[in-house]
Order: sequence, then C-alpha cells, then structure tokens
Amino acid sequence: MKKTNPIGIFDSGIGGLTVGHQLSKLMPNEQIVYFGDTKHLPYGDKSEEAIKSYSKKITKFLIEQECKMIVIACNTASALAFNEVKESCNKLAITLNVIDPVVAYTCKSEAKIVGVIGTKNTITSNVYDLKLRKLNPKLKTASLATPLLVPMIEEGFYEDKISSSIIANYLENKQLKDIDHLILGCTHYPLIEDDINKFYKTRVTIINSAKIVAKFVEKTLSDRNLLARDPSTKSHSFFVSDYTKSFEQSAQHFFGARINLTKIVL
Ligand code: DGL
Repeated sequence: MKKTNPIGIFDSGIGGLTVGHQLSKLMPNEQIVYFGDTKHLPYGDKSEEAIKSYSKKITKFLIEQECKMIVIACNTASALAFNEVKESCNKLAITLNVIDPVVAYTCKSEAKIVGVIGTKNTITSNVYDLKLRKLNPKLKTASLATPLLVPMIEEGFYEDKISSSIIANYLENKQLKDIDHLILGCTHYPLIEDDINKFYKTRVTIINSAKIVAKFVEKTLSDRNLLARDPSTKSHSFFVSDYTKSFEQSAQHFFGARINLTKIVL
C-alpha cells in the first residue's frame, strides 16, 4: 500500500457520492475511484446472497485499481457484506464500513433516544440497534425502513412538494415519536437532509454519516501513515455497471462539470 494509491468507494448508486464528496473536501490530495452499481440498484430489497456477490465483485475490481482503502459507502452492503468485502481485500487494502464510525459518534453524543431510518435490508438486519446498544446499553433506539426514499432521490426529487410529503409521511410514524437524534442510515439520505431538518425544525439532531465517515477515513489513513502528502497527479475516476443520466448529473454536481465516467461489466 502506498500513500499515492487511490481510495476506492462503492455504493449501489449516487448515495456513496455524498461520502466521496465529503472525503474529497477533507482530503483534497486523495484520488478517488468510485463504483456505482447502478445495474443492481436498489440494494435495499435484494437478497443477502446477491448483495454479498455484488460487493465481492466490486471489491475485486477496486483492488485491481490498486486502492489502498475500500470504503463501503452503502449501509445495506455494510450491514450484509462487510466480512465478505474484508476477506476479498485479503489485506491488500484497508476495509471500512459506514456503520461503525456513526455508531461510535452517536454513543459519544448527547443522544438518549436515537431513531434510525434506512433501507428494508439495513433496518431488518438490526445492525444499528445491536451495535448502538452494545456500546451504550442505556441508549434507546427506534428504527424505521423508508424504502421509497432511495428511488425518490435517484429520480432527483428533493427539496420539493413530492419529497416533503413522502418524508413527512415516514417521519410522522409513531415509532419515531420521541426521538432526540436521527441517524441517516443510508448514504443517499444526506441529499434530503434539508427536507428532514425542515420537518423537525431543530427538535431532532440529524446525524449525517457522510461527514463522520470522511473524518474516520482521514484518521485511519493518518494513523497508518497512508495519507497522500501531495495533490494526486491523477483525477478521480467514476465507474458504473449501467449508464444512467441521474448518476452522471449527480457526480457532476458533487465533483464539477467534467468527470471521468466509464461503464464496466463485472
Ligand atoms: N445508499 C445505500 C445505503 O446506504 C443503498 C440504497 C439502496 O440501493 O437501496 O444503504
């Protein structure tokens, strides 16, 4: 592993771009190789077997790109396939998921009753609930699957009437009635953070995983003396398993007008 090697990031679609964006803001010297598995989007309702198989193939590809670190910028794959990704890395790259940094952050915060929203797979896995209460047994948790949010965001609906009505419909659920903090347990959701804040009007603190994960990546690389010292000579690369306009537009929105986007069959 060399300091100049890229950081590999993957997600089912545009969600992981929220992590990639924060990461490049915090560590502008780093080169990013991003894979959006748009052909298999959404991951939220696929079988565990399918998620594991997609994640392993993507990891193999990112390792071939000589990534020094693989960030599973997807809660669903982090919940269901972390061990498989770690194994596939075979110590050739550091593996990080998006759940552990958020759990550690939440347990250090003033949270008492934590709500978690995410895909069906993430919520059914109970991963947040188990990890939060293991680290802080006094914490109360309430989880809700919000499966319409990913397709809504991928279709570009945020900060409008449709998104605010769908979001309100979910957040009004009595399950989330008494929460003081809300974990955005899907990397797509930072794109609707403003809509969620409008709904709660400061009553609930929103925990946005993108910023927390970026800081954790920086610390991990720094601890291992693997932070890029100088600006990368190579530009970021973006790969997708199926070309979609939505992906290209979002990548351009986060990373500037000209991006290097390639469709690749794994
Ligand atoms: N962004 C993803 C997550 O964090 C995946 C959403 C999906 O594809 O359903 O879970």
